[in-house]
Amino acid sequence: MSDMIYRRSGRSGLLLPALSLGLWHNFGAESDHGLKRALCRKAWDLGITHFDLANNYGPPAGSAEEAFGHILREDFAAQRDHMIISTKAGYHMWDGPYGEWGSRKYLIASLDQSLKRMGLSYVDIFYSHRFDPNTPLEETMGALDFAVRSGRALYAGISNYPTEALQEAARILKGLGTPCLIHQPRYSMLQREPEIAGAFEAADDAGMGTIVFSPLAQGLLTNKYLSGVPAGSRATINHFLKEASIEPKLVAKLEKLNAIAATRGQTLAQMAIAWVLRDKWITSALIGASKPEQIADCVGALKAPAFSQDELALIEKELAA
Ligand SMILES: NC(=O)c1ccc[n+]([C@@H]2O[C@H](COP(=O)([O-])OP(=O)(O)OC[C@H]3O[C@@H](n4cnc5c(N)ncnc54)[C@H](OP(=O)(O)O)[C@@H]3O)[C@@H](O)[C@H]2O)c1
Repeated sequence: MSDMIYRRSGRSGLLLPALSLGLWHNFGAESDHGLKRALCRKAWDLGITHFDLANNYGPPAGSAEEAFGHILREDFAAQRDHMIISTKAGYHMWDGPYGEWGSRKYLIASLDQSLKRMGLSYVDIFYSHRFDPNTPLEETMGALDFAVRSGRALYAGISNYPTEALQEAARILKGLGTPCLIHQPRYSMLQREPEIAGAFEAADDAGMGTIVFSPLAQGLLTNKYLSGVPAGSRATINHFLKEASIEPKLVAKLEKLNAIAATRGQTLAQMAIAWVLRDKWITSALIGASKPEQIADCVGALKAPAFSQDELALIEKELAA
């Protein structure tokens, strides 16, 4: 048995693992298939039942879902009822007027494509990946409701929604009889926008859970960049984490945080995950990994003692410095 903890998503019946694995990076066509399998198997063996995808994960867009479809058939054929698989639509997927944003046309066509790529008859959670200011929210939420009613998805979710739109989306979905399961915003010690915007409380008030992505700030909140930028790290591979952003001031801050983690008997990655999970509103921390050992390290976060008020204050002091 693993030491995984499962938390209820809002007021739903669904328990999610406190750590979930995302397939945004390292599941594209150029990554080694054996590595992709090893990452999923390691996560599974550690009790991570939730795998998070999106239509556009790759590169190229769609290839992560294709790879995951292969892995499902190879390694998890008997496990579908034990897994929570999510996908999303919202960002650019194909050219033309129906290939992105929040229309019903795009969302349902994209979900059908995702199901085909993964070889699934349904996903557990289907997300609107981003708020579309130019489409009536009734239409976008209506598409999520339809996805659920038509059996393509079991639950509806929203990602990257501003707080007011989140509240409105929750109200519409509740009215349609498909309560919104969860909100997925970016959140870490270095990126605190949803906390400042009151998004966690708003989701909780609406009966929704919150799953936070990039809790390690794409690897910054680990010991990886403390003595330079290692070859093969995300900062050297793509534009999502820019090497130039890893400035001496940031590294000095990470060193201070690393020292606090050491006093807690944790790696910095473990403390960063325990920190986002300190909040009762957070259902799951959605991590990525390039090596199976990283997943094991991250799951070790769950063995941590609760933060003392002094530790939390010290962390705030270093973050503000
Ligand atoms: N909804 C959205 O708009 C959205 C946007 C972004 C992401 N997401 C979701 O969130 C998931 C996670 O995002 P993320 O990959 O940015 O999360 P993250 O957990 O903040 O960063 C993952 C990276 O951190 C490094 N890492 C992980 N564990 C480590 C450890 N124990 N020690 C040292 N380094 C470690 C690895 O970097 P290296 O590769 O350098 O080794 C890994 O690729 C995505 O896969 C996706 O499912 C959603």
